Amino acid sequence: MTVAAVVLLRSLTPADRGAVEAMTRSTGFFHEDEVAIAVEVFDAAVAGTSDYEALGAEVNGALAGWMSWGPTPCTLGTWDCYWIVVDPAHQGEGIGSTLLGAMEQRLAGRARLIVAETAGRDDYGPTRAFYERRGYHAQSRIPDFYAPGDDQVVYVKYLTAAVRP
Ligand SMILES: CC(C)(COP(=O)(O)OP(=O)(O)OC[C@H]1O[C@@H](n2cnc3c(N)ncnc32)[C@H](O)[C@@H]1OP(=O)(O)O)[C@@H](O)C(=O)NCCC(=O)NCCS
Repeated sequence: MTVAAVVLLRSLTPADRGAVEAMTRSTGFFHEDEVAIAVEVFDAAVAGTSDYEALGAEVNGALAGWMSWGPTPCTLGTWDCYWIVVDPAHQGEGIGSTLLGAMEQRLAGRARLIVAETAGRDDYGPTRAFYERRGYHAQSRIPDFYAPGDDQVVYVKYLTAAVRP
């Protein structure tokens, strides 16, 4: 039986950079160029850009998960969920769900639509199940998007709260 972790959500700081990079790489889900982009997004978020927001999840005083999201340029109230990563040692303990729920809470009144892009490969099956169990709908699939045989699946979740102009 998996035991739910006691999760402390907190802001990320530049001191988390190494842990974020190592954790993202350690999942085995991302190519090195993707890890580099994740760290760039982390850097921009902790620097305070309006393009990205980020959040960390601690378990027993150590960073066990992080995520980032941001407003989709040239849209009204559409936001992209860019990265969500949980340390493999803590996956399945509810940390990803806590992070995703916290993002949604923080977007209440600001977001109309949340979009999350992921892969259609078999090894991403648990990731797709994660989004689906949390109310995200697989809206589109682009065959061979990432590489031949590596489709993109776009998940969407429409929020009911009104968006402030
Ligand atoms: C996808 C991910 C963020 C989910 O976070 P998590 O903390 O493991 O997920 P939770 O414990 O909150 O939720 C578990 C659910 O997610 C799914 N899941 C995805 N990966 C899982 C894993 N490695 N172990 C257990 N459950 C996993 C299960 O369907 C499970 O379903 P349930 O709600 O019926 O139990 C995390 O597993 C992860 O970092 N995966 C690798 C990187 C990745 O795929 N990121 C998203 C890229 S788009």
